Amino acid sequence: PDTRAAKALKDYIRTIPDFPKPGIQFRDVTTLFADPRGLRLAVDLMLHPYAGTRIDKVAGLEARGFVLGGAVAHQLGRGFVPIRKAGKLPGAVLSERYTLEYGEAVVEVHDDALQPGERVLLVDDLLATGGTAEAGVRLIERLGAEVASCVFVIDLPALGGRARLEAMGLDVVTLCE
Ligand code: PRP
Ligand code: ADE
Repeated sequence: PDTRAAKALKDYIRTIPDFPKPGIQFRDVTTLFADPRGLRLAVDLMLHPYAGTRIDKVAGLEARGFVLGGAVAHQLGRGFVPIRKAGKLPGAVLSERYTLEYGEAVVEVHDDALQPGERVLLVDDLLATGGTAEAGVRLIERLGAEVASCVFVIDLPALGGRARLEAMGLDVVTLCE
């Protein structure tokens, strides 16, 4: 059952059928981001579980994880690290290939973006198969840093992302299904 907060969040999220491919129900957070109360609610709920927890850096997954991750990093008073699609970062990078609900892709991080031992909060808008997040986790761990937790606004539980990340021993927080 949805909490009141989850219900409130879902009212801001729009569903677009058959994007980017037939059969995909695309959960569109641009309507959440565009509403000042919606954006603040999402960011506040993402921060709440980490009160009193040591987080050294926030990493965001391109593209919608940049919006949320930037706001979360600002509120925590920590730096932000972008995990980008291939070919976008200008410096030396580490790369990870992954598959997602509707395709295949590569994500990258700068090879000096994190220090060994840093505790990183990984942020994205939506958890589907977990392929994107798993690739992000692998990049963070290859840099010697530790994923303190992964936080998403939306979980699509039928796609198994939470179970996949939890099987890797990760802490997973999602705000609505
Ligand atoms: C969406 C979403 C997540 C990912 C989740 O991004 O924002 O990053 O898919 O899917 P997964 O759990 O199956 O990996 P998308 O790949 O559409 O990229 P974009 O944000 O750059 O549009
Ligand atoms: N990424 C993977 N599946 C998605 C969906 N159904 N809606 C939005 N983003 C997604």
